[in-house]
Amino acid sequence: MGNKGNVVEARGLTVVRGTTTALGGVDLDVPSHQIVGLLGPSGSGKTTLMRSIVGVQRTTAGSMTVLGRPAGHPELRRVVGYTTQAASVYADLTVTENLRYFAALLGAHASDIERALVAVDMAGLAGRTVGTLSGGERSRVSLAAALLGDPQLLVLDEPTVGLDPVLRRDLWDLFARLRNDGVSLLVSSHVMDEAARCDRLVLLREGQVLADATLPELLERTGTSEAGEAFLALIEARGEEGR
Ligand SMILES: Nc1ncnc2c1ncn2[C@@H]1O[C@H](COP(=O)(O)OP(=O)(O)OP(=O)(O)O)[C@@H](O)[C@H]1O
Ligand SMILES: [Mg+2]
Repeated sequence: MGNKGNVVEARGLTVVRGTTTALGGVDLDVPSHQIVGLLGPSGSGKTTLMRSIVGVQRTTAGSMTVLGRPAGHPELRRVVGYTTQAASVYADLTVTENLRYFAALLGAHASDIERALVAVDMAGLAGRTVGTLSGGERSRVSLAAALLGDPQLLVLDEPTVGLDPVLRRDLWDLFARLRNDGVSLLVSSHVMDEAARCDRLVLLREGQVLADATLPELLERTGTSEAGEAFLALIEARGEEGR
């Protein structure tokens, strides 16, 4: 467990990708047992930050501690679940075969597969070849893979993209249940209306943290009534400061 009950602690995290400073000195705390929403426009650094947390991103400077260990530590593999922005499952295997494969990698028990499939409402499609599934179904298979084993932290990169409103609601209900069961979640999105389902929000822009607060705090600070407006107000305020 991280200090002060944080499952993720980044300090001064800097990542240069190609010629772009994807993250420019990010400080981030993800408190345990919360859903933290990572919001920001395309290219703001959400995926880069998540890759750093799961230890697959080369960092230029700063530190990243996950569950009290340096990011990428082998012992974190079983306790951190990650879904990439594009569903990362094998198209030529069935849903169950995919999950069997990932369960074997993690040393998770085969009985876990059924639980994970039920959680993402995919038990009825267990025998289907993944290549024949819709985009939303495929991303739910990825999510099921991340739920295998006993993850304490879930890092989910835009898990609701391309899903209809009913499925999006069902997934956010699932995230809330997982949180209530003691899992910590970092969920990226650029759909601002999903902000209301998060316990805290981190707003990223151009590789910088613009705000790290609860939604009510953010609305109060900016005198706005929803997350999208608050975000715009923060960007404008930042612009005035710079002048
Ligand atoms: N492999 C790469 N090489 C060079 N630059 C990259 C690479 N991957 C990302 N970048 C740049 O790093 C910055 C942050 O990208 P990142 O993918 O983290 O953004 P994002 O917030 O996840 O965007 P999106 O909402 O589109 O997924 C962008 O400017 C992007 O162009
Ligand atoms: Mg991304």
